[in-house]
Order: sequence, then C-alpha cells, then structure tokens
Amino acid sequence: MNEENDKTKVLKSLEMGGKMKEIYRDQFEVHGYSPKSLGCGKGRQNLRFKALSCFVEPKSSVLDFGCGFGDLFSFLNKKKIMVQYEGCDVMDIFLNVAKERHAKAEFFKIEMGGNLPTEKYDNIICSGVFNFKYVEDDVKHQEEVYSTIEKLFIACKRVLSIDFQTPFVDFNAPNSHYQDIDSLINFVVQKLSRRFSIDHSYMPYEYCVHIFKDSLIKRPDNVYKT
Ligand SMILES: C[S@@+](CC[C@H](N)C(=O)[O-])C[C@H]1O[C@@H](n2cnc3c(N)ncnc32)[C@H](O)[C@@H]1O
Repeated sequence: MNEENDKTKVLKSLEMGGKMKEIYRDQFEVHGYSPKSLGCGKGRQNLRFKALSCFVEPKSSVLDFGCGFGDLFSFLNKKKIMVQYEGCDVMDIFLNVAKERHAKAEFFKIEMGGNLPTEKYDNIICSGVFNFKYVEDDVKHQEEVYSTIEKLFIACKRVLSIDFQTPFVDFNAPNSHYQDIDSLINFVVQKLSRRFSIDHSYMPYEYCVHIFKDSLIKRPDNVYKT
C-alpha cells in the first residue's frame, strides 16, 4: 500500500505542475491560511500587489490568476479600489479558503494549461504564479509559462500584469524559475504587444511586467491612440 502511494506520488510529481502542487499541499498542511503556505512573506506580498495593481481602475473587472487565498481582493478593498473581482487557481485547498474569506468575490478552479474566455477582464494580475517550476526541464517550463501568458493576453481587455523572480540574484533556490528579461521582452514584442513597461524597482529580487492590449499608433503624430 505504501509502495503504491509512493508510486502515485512520483507519477503526480512528473505531471505538469505536479511537484508544485505537492509542495503547496505540504506547506498548507503545516501552515494553513498563511503566506508561508504560498511561499511568501506578508510584507513582500503587499509591495508586490501595489506594483502589480498600479493600472487597475475602480469599477473595472479584474482576474486574479493563481489567486491563492484571494489576498489581492483584500488588498484592493483596503486601498478602496472597488472592482469586479474574480480569482482562479489550480489548488482546491487554496480556493476553499478564498471562498470562505471573501463571500463577495467570485472564485473558480482552472486546470493547468486551461483556457479562459476571450477579452473578458479589464485587468489580469498574476502574482507569484510563475515562480515555481512546473517541470524540471527549464525549456519546457519556459514554454508552458509563455503559452499560459498568451492565453491570459487573449482573455484580457486592457492590461496584463505579471511578476517574476529576477535572474539578477546571488542564490538560486531549488525548483524556482528566474525569468530572463531579454527573452521575456522578445516574447512580449513578437507575440503580444510592443506596448509594455517593466518595473524592476519595487523589490530587490523581483520585477513585474505590464503588457498593454491597446497598442495602436496614431499617425503621423507617432503616439499611442489612448
Ligand atoms: C505564490 S502563490 C501566490 C498566490 C497569490 N497570487 C498571492 O500572491 O497571494 C502562486 C499561486 O499560483 C497558482 N498557480 C500556479 N500556476 C498556475 C496555473 N498555471 N494556473 C492557475 N494557478 C496557478 C498556485 O496554485 C498558487 O496558488
């Protein structure tokens, strides 16, 4: 029976995101509702939310992709930025807590690599979503990250905002993804939009990218239309 359990565990850890889910489950068993279960400190979480939500306007629709416990909803409420909020995640155990804590928000489960509706949300925010490697192979993980971002951009109407761990670190934690910035910029410009901003100033080991849906150029002035 134990051998059978071990086998199931190994197979699950080989699935896309399997190892990540296993670690989240183990951390949740120990810490319960705590940023520690998500692998981040409370102070850092608010700095990240502030940087990621700088283009969110009141009354807009927001998808918190990889919402964990839905803490971004509390952050926006505290800042009096009232929005139509939806959160989604691959982890049922996190979603159950999120639903209990935020009766006024909508939450739904998404599978790894799942699709989202087209142009439904003004803003989509991904906080800490791509830090954990989905598979050991760096190239495969990077492909899955980019493929997920392409789907998110389709679902977005205004701005897609994502944070990553910077590659400019002196220590690499195991199972972690440090997003190369040149590669990210090339991907964004070639596949999504030439209109983006990168903020590498709000924390020492993280940065975020904001990608704008509307990149139409007004000629002959050569300015953006909006
Ligand atoms: C570090 S936690 C951050 C949670 C929350 N965004 C926050 O900042 O408090 C990352 C979350 O992203 C979720 N996640 C990772 N990859 C995902 C994917 N491809 N689709 C949906 N959720 C994902 C994880 O299950 C986890 O809840």
